[in-house]
Amino acid sequence: MTGQGELRPPGQGMLRAVGPETVAISLGQNTYLWAICMVAALGGLLFGYDWVVIGGAKPFYEKFFELRNASEQGWAMSCALVGCLLGAVFSGSASDRYGRKILLILAALLFGVSSVGTALAQVFHHFVMWRIVGGMAIGLASNLSPMYIAEISPAAVRGKLVSLNQLTIVMGILLAQFVNWLIAQPVPRDASAMEILNSWNGQMGWRWMFGVTAIPSLLFFLGMLAVPESPRWLARNGRHDEAERILRRLGGEAHSKQALAEIRSSLATSKKVNLFALLDSRLVGVLSLGVSLAVFQQWCGINVIFSYAEEVFSAAGYHVSDILLNIVITGAVNLAFTLVAIALVDKVGRRKLMLFGSAALALIYGLLGFGFYRHSRGVHMLLLVVVAIACYAMSLAPVTWVVISEIFPNHIRGVCSFAGAFRKQRARRSRRSSRLWRAESGFPRNDMQIPATLLPAFAESFGGRPRLFRAPGRVNLIGEHTDYTGGLVMPAAIDFSTWVAAGRREDRTIRAISEGFPGTLEFSLDRTPKCQGNWTDYVAGVAATLEAAGHRLRGANLLIHGEVPVGSGLSSSAAIEVATALALLKNSDLFLEPLQFALLCQRAENDFVGMRCGIMDQFISCFGRQDHALMLDCRSLTHRAVRLPAEASLVICNTMVRHELASTEYNRRREDCEAAARIIGPLRDLTLETLERRAADLPEPVRKRCRHVVTENVRVLQAAASLEESDIKAFGRYMDESHRSLRDDYEVSCRELDIMTELAGRLPGVYGSRMTGGGFGGCTISLVESGHVEDFVNQVASGYAIETGLTPKVYVCRAQDGAREVSLLECAVT
Ligand code: GLA
Repeated sequence: MTGQGELRPPGQGMLRAVGPETVAISLGQNTYLWAICMVAALGGLLFGYDWVVIGGAKPFYEKFFELRNASEQGWAMSCALVGCLLGAVFSGSASDRYGRKILLILAALLFGVSSVGTALAQVFHHFVMWRIVGGMAIGLASNLSPMYIAEISPAAVRGKLVSLNQLTIVMGILLAQFVNWLIAQPVPRDASAMEILNSWNGQMGWRWMFGVTAIPSLLFFLGMLAVPESPRWLARNGRHDEAERILRRLGGEAHSKQALAEIRSSLATSKKVNLFALLDSRLVGVLSLGVSLAVFQQWCGINVIFSYAEEVFSAAGYHVSDILLNIVITGAVNLAFTLVAIALVDKVGRRKLMLFGSAALALIYGLLGFGFYRHSRGVHMLLLVVVAIACYAMSLAPVTWVVISEIFPNHIRGVCSFAGAFRKQRARRSRRSSRLWRAESGFPRNDMQIPATLLPAFAESFGGRPRLFRAPGRVNLIGEHTDYTGGLVMPAAIDFSTWVAAGRREDRTIRAISEGFPGTLEFSLDRTPKCQGNWTDYVAGVAATLEAAGHRLRGANLLIHGEVPVGSGLSSSAAIEVATALALLKNSDLFLEPLQFALLCQRAENDFVGMRCGIMDQFISCFGRQDHALMLDCRSLTHRAVRLPAEASLVICNTMVRHELASTEYNRRREDCEAAARIIGPLRDLTLETLERRAADLPEPVRKRCRHVVTENVRVLQAAASLEESDIKAFGRYMDESHRSLRDDYEVSCRELDIMTELAGRLPGVYGSRMTGGGFGGCTISLVESGHVEDFVNQVASGYAIETGLTPKVYVCRAQDGAREVSLLECAVT
């Protein structure tokens, strides 16, 4: 396996990165790891199995125990939930204390004991007691199996491995349905309750259905005895040597060192959060939204279909022995459409899937209700039920939990999931696992995911609750080094942001600290701050520029958290400027048009920091739009959004070099262009013919520089047109040409950038590749056919490492919206 994976830069979300953090794992180690995770995922299988087995046994044990009224029947079906609740509530603290492994062994034992106990029950209250014991096993396994898998897996494969548990749950459901069907013997169509009671099914069949659970339980039990303890838990309890040994076995020496270091640092920064965190008034909205979503998910009627399939099917004209086959069909559909959801949730988006699911279910229930009302029977009723399950499995079932996982800020997520256990009573299926499945599997992150450290760190440094602002970095698709001559550019905002947490002060002092860099900035807005030559210049520069432009600011405490890799050409400077300006203005109850905003930030960088950049970076950080690039005319400052093709991904490769000459050469190129403009007029108005005619008037390097600018402006126009015509191949060709022009005419590329683009150009599925940003190091941007991204990431990373000896970072990113304030509530609905 190569070093591909889902790594996050500090505080980051779901950008996929390849870098020094990942360590190769051999095939043998990989197999061992998969085997361990398969064992743990048996917890998920039993969870799904136990949930559904009762549906098939229901017609028979009800007769056996003579459960005639709805409350007794309902209690038989749902008593296990009491145990489930207990298991879920205690799983966290007990496994922290005694270890994951022992608690999972206990879960396996409880599954086994409960299945045998239920199978042997002679009286109803024994049946209930054993079902509650089984429920406890579910409560434990549903929390601990995915947790254990996540803790034992290296980051690079964690997503895949955790998602195993999601799949095994659905497989467990299908297995239970299938086993029930195999066990039950045909029941005559006109069988009376007495005949069913006296049949083999009524006496023995239902017992076998429960009893068979003992087989996977035993496998789970034996398997869990053999697997190692979670290294994270061991390290947390000071058992570093054991943790190291296990990690070494799992991924080798390097992996073990790296993983231990990560575990230590995450343990050092993790804080204990208690239930009272949920009472924070700012969280109440998010919490209610999450709970409502969960309640509605369960209220959407699907439980009627799953739990009462028998009644639904008989009412539709199906006989009891057909029902089990039908249940098997529903299980298969459930499994198949869960896979569809896994494939779609990222491409189509959560909102669309949820809307589709709710609308489709509403329609189907309407039709079903009408059908029952008209006593309609036959295959069409069965089909409607199956379609309802398909719609639910591909939308509300998993996506609700994906959404819930995304709307809670990190630091309260654990507590929320615990609180979620209280309503887990109707929602056991796939809940916990899908949350983890999403959280780890490399789906583009929710851009509104607030960095976990931000709120606690602010409270610690300044006290109180801040307002939060974020501004994204950018990648430029085409149109490089054209903005400062009034040319055309085509950038997109990316899912790396700089966050500013801001609190109001009563005086006119700005006090700022950064999570990533040392030093404190403190100055009075009544005096002009001095340039320090470090990160504080961006904050001070923006404050001073806003004041100088007549915007009277209030004092503020600011905490900066940067996600945009610094010095990589992804515009971390514009991100900090724009986020700071937004924070300072909002903190002062001032409003500014976004364009003014972008221009003031550019001015701060030009005049205070001393970098003579164009407008592109600040503009896109303000105006970025999700899934779109902007075609920006830097002279008129007008723009239009161009949708990016869904079938291609933006892959940013960080060369990990930044050459010293970057900023001096940048300013020098700008001077060359200004000198040319003085001789032959604005470069934006120049055609290639005019340039060639006037070539003799220009000294050599300047002539080449102008050729780049002129041809690049034309390329941007053509590239935008080709995107709008969905001609991605043509767009890619313009990207390649742009790189050649930057390399040969503008001379801002370097060996590493050239190697990276050449490697990319040789790989399948790559439409085009070029350097992005100012150049002399930093990043390349490649447009890659989505199906090839995985291979691309692996091959470009290893090829680059072989040729340069450097380990690159590769980010698969998605175009995002521009800067904004992020309130917890707003983050919840976005
Ligand atoms: C830097 C500058 C931008 C732009 C690019 C090159 O990112 O900040 O204004 O000039 O380089 O296209």
